[in-house]
Amino acid sequence: MKGLILSGGKGTRLRPLTYTRAKQLLPLANKPVLFYAIESLLAAGIEEIGIVVGDTHAEIEAAVGDGSRWGANVRIQFIAQEAPLGLAHAVKTAQPFLGEDRFVMFLGDNLIGEALAPMVRDFAAPDCAYRCHILLTEVENPSQFGIAELEPAPVPALVGEAGSGTPAPLRVRRLVEKPAVPPSNLALVGIYFFDSRIFTAADAIQPSARGELEITDAIQWLIDHGHDVRAQRLRGYWIDTGKMEDILDANRQVLLGLEPTIDPTAIISETSALHGAVTIQAGARIENSVIRGPAIIGERCVIQNAYIGPFTSIYHDTRITASEVEYSIVLEHSQIVDVRGRIEESLIGRHSEVYTSTRKPRGHKLMLGDHSRVGVLPS
Ligand code: TTP
Repeated sequence: MKGLILSGGKGTRLRPLTYTRAKQLLPLANKPVLFYAIESLLAAGIEEIGIVVGDTHAEIEAAVGDGSRWGANVRIQFIAQEAPLGLAHAVKTAQPFLGEDRFVMFLGDNLIGEALAPMVRDFAAPDCAYRCHILLTEVENPSQFGIAELEPAPVPALVGEAGSGTPAPLRVRRLVEKPAVPPSNLALVGIYFFDSRIFTAADAIQPSARGELEITDAIQWLIDHGHDVRAQRLRGYWIDTGKMEDILDANRQVLLGLEPTIDPTAIISETSALHGAVTIQAGARIENSVIRGPAIIGERCVIQNAYIGPFTSIYHDTRITASEVEYSIVLEHSQIVDVRGRIEESLIGRHSEVYTSTRKPRGHKLMLGDHSRVGVLPS
């Protein structure tokens, strides 16, 4: 089995942060989202991984490297997609890398809270009865997702005997993109299991109304041509971090699972207090401050006379002085100084400065990127 991670795309929904950075590199608990996808595949025993990249390829390649940071057997290569022409187009682009192997495709901005190993084991079995397997999750607003309609009765998962012990996936009858009248509330999650038949499907379909080769159309083509497509409900969480409102929730989920550690090079003054699961990374300095976990303070950060509340990630080289921050992500090289009123539910981009202005005339002084959003307290 191989792994294919899609990290091209435009990232329009995450502007302004994605004007200057690939969305797959946005950190959750101070680690790029993309690394969680890589580690999900590695944990399932998949060590040969292709990453589809677009305009942001240089930055992604620099962050990931050749894979050796994850182990001597891990091989990662990059596959250039000429333009973000759809998920099925990305699969076609990766055909020379994938060859005849079965593979797991993982959207590089998706995060799941479930191990893939049992599903990978079943799909990799020589006698596995199906050649495409998708994952589903229940959603409250099915009209905004790709939705699956399933056959009610289970069908054996394996032609032979052994299996992982997980329930046999149900057969998929039909997929519909953003249906006005949804046949179910089961949405497709950004993780798919395919074999080389998907290339025939991707070659056969036409671009959709938005001009992209849609992966749902390719899977529907497989169903229409008599192939056994199965689906299984994800038991853990699934978050598409490509949407702004979901990033803070994804950060929360990751922080909840993070084993707290204090780097020996961190300096924590006696007048500071750490409560709950707090991680302090190398070279950080905490002076006269309270940090209530789950939270993470990045490398070389300086936190002075401050309060950092639960579900907060402060990325490296950031300074927070005489201010309070909670349920937020602050990116690297930022400064938050003397801010009255707690900063909450905020996403603060790189090299940002938030401070109290004492200059006249009094007023909010803002320099915001395009598509920024600021909520100020009533006076
Ligand atoms: P999407 O979030 O569906 O698309 P996008 O990245 O263009 O984002 P937006 O809608 O905000 O403009 O993409 C899901 C993942 O797949 C993401 O990691 C980018 C990647 N992708 C490709 O690699 N190639 C493509 O052609 C497309 C459309 C997406």
